Amino acid sequence: AAAARAAASGAETLDELRAILERFDGCALKATASRTVFSDGTPGARLMLVGEAPGRDEDLSGLPFVGRSGQLLDRMLAAIGIDRASAYIANVIPWRPPGNRTPTPQELETCLPFIRRQIALADPDVLVTLGGPAAQSLFQTKEGILRLRGRWLDYDTGRRRIRALATLHPAYLLRQPGQKAFAWRDFKAVRRALDGG
Ligand code: URA
Repeated sequence: AAAARAAASGAETLDELRAILERFDGCALKATASRTVFSDGTPGARLMLVGEAPGRDEDLSGLPFVGRSGQLLDRMLAAIGIDRASAYIANVIPWRPPGNRTPTPQELETCLPFIRRQIALADPDVLVTLGGPAAQSLFQTKEGILRLRGRWLDYDTGRRRIRALATLHPAYLLRQPGQKAFAWRDFKAVRRALDGG
């Protein structure tokens, strides 16, 4: 984690951060991944979404949230009037874990300085985390996602505080469609926050 912190702090722009990640060798996940999945959408967008880690489709394409979860995410964004291309999308882990397993606490800790830097440089007005690992890592809590979701939190970049909301992961909603009402409530709250409410 110290190596990652030192490497991440050297990035003054998102492009520099991407290049640093592409050179970084301190996370074992990189060895089995096809590529580094850094971001999609618009750097500097008012809304930033952060998921867990690339899956197979993302590992192949190099873009976050392009598989089935991504398609659901796109529909959820469209439902609040947001085209995914106008948001900024990333993951707490930029390399696909083998077989899409959940990242370990150590892997999350290693990658945390990079996503923290990415958020600070992207500097959104509103930050949305998707699923348990992203929320637990970024908010440094062990609290479960079903308790964390739907509550506005302050995310401190070290430079400023950003309004942040944890919600459920689209992959979870694909397995548990009955939970979609909670995500819908959260996305409507995001819409209101972007509208200044
Ligand atoms: N799930 C995630 O958390 N991120 C992706 O990029 C794709 C699926």
